[in-house]
Amino acid sequence: MVRMVFYKALITGASAGLGLEFARQLASAGTNLILVARRLERLEKLARELKQEFGVQVEVLSADLSRKEDLQKVAQKIKETPDLDLLINNAGFGGKGRFHEDQQGEAEKMIKVHVLTPVVLSRAALSGMLKNRRGAIINVASIAAFSPLSGAMYSSTKAFLVMFSENLQAELQDTGIKVQALCPGLTHTEFHEMAGINKEAIPGFLWMTAERVVSISLKALKRNKVIIIPGKRNKLIAFLMRCPMTYGLVRWAARQRWLRKKANL
Ligand SMILES: NC(=O)c1ccc[n+]([C@@H]2O[C@H](COP(=O)([O-])OP(=O)(O)OC[C@H]3O[C@@H](n4cnc5c(N)ncnc54)[C@H](OP(=O)(O)O)[C@@H]3O)[C@@H](O)[C@H]2O)c1
Repeated sequence: MVRMVFYKALITGASAGLGLEFARQLASAGTNLILVARRLERLEKLARELKQEFGVQVEVLSADLSRKEDLQKVAQKIKETPDLDLLINNAGFGGKGRFHEDQQGEAEKMIKVHVLTPVVLSRAALSGMLKNRRGAIINVASIAAFSPLSGAMYSSTKAFLVMFSENLQAELQDTGIKVQALCPGLTHTEFHEMAGINKEAIPGFLWMTAERVVSISLKALKRNKVIIIPGKRNKLIAFLMRCPMTYGLVRWAARQRWLRKKANL
């Protein structure tokens, strides 16, 4: 399938994993980039590589999206970039423990990075996109949006992104703007190491590469479909978690102590 062509994209969480892969695949298609994350050295290194390899313009912006002033800085940058036609709300992280044991304010931080940031940045991007009658927003959610075994905050913030995307796309029909809720399953990135999850304990066949996930997401923008679940296995898992025939069984299994212990919950 032929991909949509974009002039300029802003990607949050571009210093690693899926965000970095979005940057690489978009640059290879000639898209100019604005890369956002906290680790500036990584962004600068990536920018140098992409400029050299693909001849695209790349700007970097260091921002901790859990901080109000940094989020406003990124929103302002978007408002000052009227030719931005792709926003990828990708920055995110996994929870480290149970909700009631959270002493570090992780829940609030997750709401700021997974929920508030995509809302504020989408709002900032839409005025330009509406004027130009073209553009796309990809909200990187997760199949955890449908799961009772992925952490109270992680699952619920990702579920927000799915419903936000679906309703926003409905509001924006006939405007030329596409909204996607990308729902990957287990993907090889730095995510699990950051969240203290032991990757070795998870069977290999359940994993996908960031390259494959990003490629599916970008190709799917051509289609009129909001929720994109990459990979047959992830589609099946998401189906089993939502299907009325298996819904109860999945919820029962998710309450079993041994399984919750294995999932670090
Ligand atoms: N990997 C998976 O299995 C998987 C599955 C489903 C969904 N996802 C989702 O995919 C997205 C990307 O994750 P990933 O797997 O690529 O993980 P990753 O390799 O750990 O990358 C996470 C990115 O988010 C950025 N980030 C985290 N907190 C931030 C903050 N406060 N401010 C600014 N940037 C921040 C990080 O940059 P800095 O640290 O430099 O700030 C990094 O660039 C996340 O939304 C995640 O929930 C991942």
